[in-house]
Amino acid sequence: MKSAILRYLKKRPAWVSGEEICQVFNLSRTAVWKHINALRRDGYTIEARPRKGYRLVSPPDLLLPEEITEGLHTRIIGYPYLYYPVLDSTNNQAKQLAQDGAGEGTVVLAEEQTGGRGRMGRRWHSPRGGLWFSIILRPPFEPARAAGATFVAAVACVKAIRSYMDVGVGIKWPNDLVYRGRKMGGILTELSAEMDRINFLVVGIGLNINNSTDILPPGLRANVITLRQIAGREVSRKEILQAVLQEFEEWYLRWCREGLGPVLETWKFYNTCIGSEIYVKGPGGEWHGRALDVDEEGALLLQTGSGEVKRILSGDVALVGKE
Ligand code: BTN
Repeated sequence: MKSAILRYLKKRPAWVSGEEICQVFNLSRTAVWKHINALRRDGYTIEARPRKGYRLVSPPDLLLPEEITEGLHTRIIGYPYLYYPVLDSTNNQAKQLAQDGAGEGTVVLAEEQTGGRGRMGRRWHSPRGGLWFSIILRPPFEPARAAGATFVAAVACVKAIRSYMDVGVGIKWPNDLVYRGRKMGGILTELSAEMDRINFLVVGIGLNINNSTDILPPGLRANVITLRQIAGREVSRKEILQAVLQEFEEWYLRWCREGLGPVLETWKFYNTCIGSEIYVKGPGGEWHGRALDVDEEGALLLQTGSGEVKRILSGDVALVGKE
C-alpha cells in the first residue's frame, strides 16, 4: 500500500488532497497518515498542509526498491531486488539466500558494507555513496565455465558507465574497472558447484560512485578513483545501477545463448592491458612480460622474456611504466 501511495504521489507533482488518497485506496485518514509517515521514515520528503493535502518534494538518495524497480527494463535480473541499509557483505548474504533456494536474477544491495570482500582475500571498503551489490545466477553450465560471469559483469559495468557518461573507463584483466590507471570498481565472483554442474554463482560488483575515499589508507587512496571525481559532480547512482542491471541481463543471456565469444570480443575492445608490457602477481608467482591475449576461458596469455607463453588464471596486473 505504501508503494502504491508513493507511485500515486509521483504521478501528481502538485498537491493531492488527503480525501482523494482515502477514496482511491479505500483507506481512512489515519491510515493514509500512517503510510505517509512510513514513507517519510524511508527518507522521502513529503509536505503536508491543511486544506491542500500532500506533496512529494523529493525522493531520498537511497537505492530503495520503489526507486530501482520502477523503470527497470529487465525480465530476470533484479527480480527480486533485496535492499539492505547495512550488511557485512552482499556476497555473503546472496550466498546464504542462494543456498536457501533464491532464484536466478535475485539482486542483493546494501548502502553500506561493514565487511566488504575483494579478490584474493582482500578487504573492500564500502561506505555509503557507492554501489555495492551481488547478483545470483544459475547458468546450466559445468563449473569450468563459471569465470565467464566475471567477464559478463565487467562488460556490463563499462557499457553502463559509458552510456551514462562519455568517459574512458576501461577494464584491466581480469576484472578491474579502471580510469587512467586508478581503480573505479571490481568484481568478485563466487561459485557453488558439483563436479559437473553449477549450483549457483554470486557475482559481487563494487563501484566507487559518490563515496568518499577519505577512509582509505593513503597508499590505497592514490590508486582509487570514484565516478564523482571523474565527472567533477555528483552522479545518479540510481541511473547507473539500473543501466548496469539492464546491460548485465543482455550480456548474460548472450553468454548463455552464444557462449563467451561475443562477451570476450567486447571485453577486449575495452581492455587496457592486452598488447602492453605488464607485471602479474598471482597466487602461483610473479611474472613479467607482454600480455598477448585472453583465451576462450578468460585466462591471460603472457609472453615472458624467454618467449615462453604462460597461461594465468588469476592475479593482479600492473602496467609497466604506468603504475
Ligand atoms: C576486487 O577485489 O576487485 C573485487 C571487489 C568486489 C567488491 C564487491 S562489493 C559487493 C560485493 N560484496 C562484497 O563483499 N564484495 C563484492
